Amino acid sequence: MLDKPLIKAIRGDPPSTPPIWLMRQAGRYLPEYRSLRAGAGSFLDLVYNPDLAAEVTLQPVRRFGFDAAILFSDILVVPHALGVDLSFREGEGPVLAPVRSAADVDGLSVDGLHDRLSPIYRTVATVKEALAPGVALIGFAGAPWTVATYMVEGGASRDHAVTKSWMWSAPGGFQSLIDILVEASVEYLVAQVEAGAEVLQLFESWAGLLPEPEFRRCCIEPAARIVAGVKDRWPAVPVIGFPRGAGLMIDAYVRETGIDAVGLDPMVPLDFARGLQGRCAVQGNLDPLLLMTGGGPMAGRVSDILSALGSGPFVFNLGHGILPDTPIGHVEDLVALVRERAR
Ligand code: CP3
Repeated sequence: MLDKPLIKAIRGDPPSTPPIWLMRQAGRYLPEYRSLRAGAGSFLDLVYNPDLAAEVTLQPVRRFGFDAAILFSDILVVPHALGVDLSFREGEGPVLAPVRSAADVDGLSVDGLHDRLSPIYRTVATVKEALAPGVALIGFAGAPWTVATYMVEGGASRDHAVTKSWMWSAPGGFQSLIDILVEASVEYLVAQVEAGAEVLQLFESWAGLLPEPEFRRCCIEPAARIVAGVKDRWPAVPVIGFPRGAGLMIDAYVRETGIDAVGLDPMVPLDFARGLQGRCAVQGNLDPLLLMTGGGPMAGRVSDILSALGSGPFVFNLGHGILPDTPIGHVEDLVALVRERAR
């Protein structure tokens, strides 16, 4: 396991070509996903079906030869397992029963967590059995702040106003939501490792919404507690943090959370990213819209990213998830560009 390219790269022993995988690499841009999804019922039916979810996890690895598979699931299965009603409506995204008070948080419970998430652990084990030897298996969870925004708003939101006003007006109640998410995330991630996950990623997709004190309290501290909780039981498992949009707070996030690698969004300057490599591995950060555009503009940026970051601890990825309309041919071109480039 230690000589898988992804794990070597994170450990600071870079393989001859940087490993590559893409956030949201399984999904609607793949015709084989769309056809399996059409016969699988709802999105959640697919997520909780270990055989089908394992197949979907493997589809992009088979097609493109990525260096990692990422478990096919969603960050919102954790609130679901805590007892929150959840559905995904076609074309609308997730809909959750809102959690907006300390009393609502008291209604959540970690007691049934592993029972409810057990199909996902079976997906992890099924994928692990099927993976080629050099391919690493990534497990994941949403970070507490990001998951909390969906729970409080009741789904996706433009301004996250309800979440922020609860956070400021009743900090104790809001903190109790963060705390139960920290506890559930540690349990969930440890169980994924026990089922076969070799690397973990924490998705903090809404890191960019908070002023410094709240960023420290709601993003850095919970991530640090999750990393410590996981490493308490599995000290060697690498953890990638993805604080999307954290900007000037990225440095503090890296120093204070204990993550082994940081996923960077497309706006992070490459010189700054190179500076981070003295402290941890860096993952990223091609703009998903440049992958959609393809051709010369994509090739130029891929070359810049590889020149800046390729000789340090580095994992090639996008700066956010792949978009559903992305042409398959552009993904093939991207993998070839990264692999061709001998360092
Ligand atoms: O990366 C992978 O391939 C693994 C699977 C994965 C999914 N969601 C599958 C999915 C992962 C890692 C996620 C993470 C996730 N989910 C995040 C964090 C990363 C990010 O994109 O910022 C967030 C915020 C969510 C919540 C979520 N799930 C939303 C807002 C939506 C609706 C919007 C959309 O893209 O459709 C989802 C649905 C979802 N999760 C889909 C997939 C493949 C699409 C559902 C479908 O096939 O109909």
